Amino acid sequence: MHYIDRLPATADHTSIITEHKRKQAWVNQEKKGFLRYRTPCQALAQWKAHNCDFSADTVSIGTGDEISSREKILIRENLKAFMPWRKGPFSVFGNDIDAEWRSNLKWNQLREELPELENKIIADVGCNNGYYMFRMAARKPRFVLGLEPSVQHYYCFKALNAMAGCSNLDIDLLGVEHLKYFVECFDVVFLMGIIYHRPSPVDTLRDILTSLQPGGTMILETQAIPGKTPVALFPDGTYAKVPGTYFVPTASCLINWVRKAGFKNIKLFASHAMTPDIQRRTEWMIYESLSDYLDPADPTRTVEGYPAPLRVFLKAEK
Ligand SMILES: C[S@@+](CC[C@H](N)C(=O)[O-])C[C@H]1O[C@@H](n2cnc3c(N)ncnc32)[C@H](O)[C@@H]1O
Repeated sequence: MHYIDRLPATADHTSIITEHKRKQAWVNQEKKGFLRYRTPCQALAQWKAHNCDFSADTVSIGTGDEISSREKILIRENLKAFMPWRKGPFSVFGNDIDAEWRSNLKWNQLREELPELENKIIADVGCNNGYYMFRMAARKPRFVLGLEPSVQHYYCFKALNAMAGCSNLDIDLLGVEHLKYFVECFDVVFLMGIIYHRPSPVDTLRDILTSLQPGGTMILETQAIPGKTPVALFPDGTYAKVPGTYFVPTASCLINWVRKAGFKNIKLFASHAMTPDIQRRTEWMIYESLSDYLDPADPTRTVEGYPAPLRVFLKAEK
């Protein structure tokens, strides 16, 4: 565990180390469900990229001319083990990965509003395969910690960063529920695509407040429903076929949550409808996607008959 020394003394080091060890003992078991991702991760780690570019829409790790054509095929086969790829695009030693989400579009919505990231300590909560962590790396942060409980995404990031070699990026198999141990650790916390999965969103926001240094910034992006009234949809079963959805707020409801959690200088800076050019089925994600989640006769409704999702973007300070 290399990142513990990068955290300030205010962190609850004992609890973080205990949780980390517990998760490592679990994931290091010789079980099929772990080996299906650990084995390709270890295979990919043998290639070290000389040329990386994190500043463009496609996160590029290594170029095709650094390896042989046989190696390129081997790399592609191992990358396929992490399907379905949800976030991207990536290019890995010339293998182009067109993921379900064009995450570059989300990043482009954010980047004008980002606080200074250079030399900062950052958390990306629910970081998935680390697409945004690599985009942050282009801005020279001191350290970015990704919290991601999914074994698939954890090993996918580990594989990508073993090839990319960014010593200021790391990931742990933790979740948003562990933020309470990271007392006053982060200058910036990203919480994107998470809050509607939380049964108690205001408590989650309070945990983020705890984890921020005084004056720190939260960048929050979430699904939302249209409307001016400060209310949240609480779906019966799934929302847009997604299980585990609790509260889907209007923008004004979200602002109220953030304010009541104790944040200040709250700014809602973008809002748009979800469209199939942002989230769609690709060669690297062969299952259903957004167009299957909306009512084909009325795309302003989900298949369950709820208002179709917007995405809203907000920043706020401690
Ligand atoms: C909808 S995706 C959003 C990914 C990314 N943040 C983005 O905005 O594109 C939700 C992510 O949260 C992760 N996740 C699931 N449970 C979590 C938890 N308790 N804490 C943090 N992340 C969690 C999932 O594995 C997944 O990678």
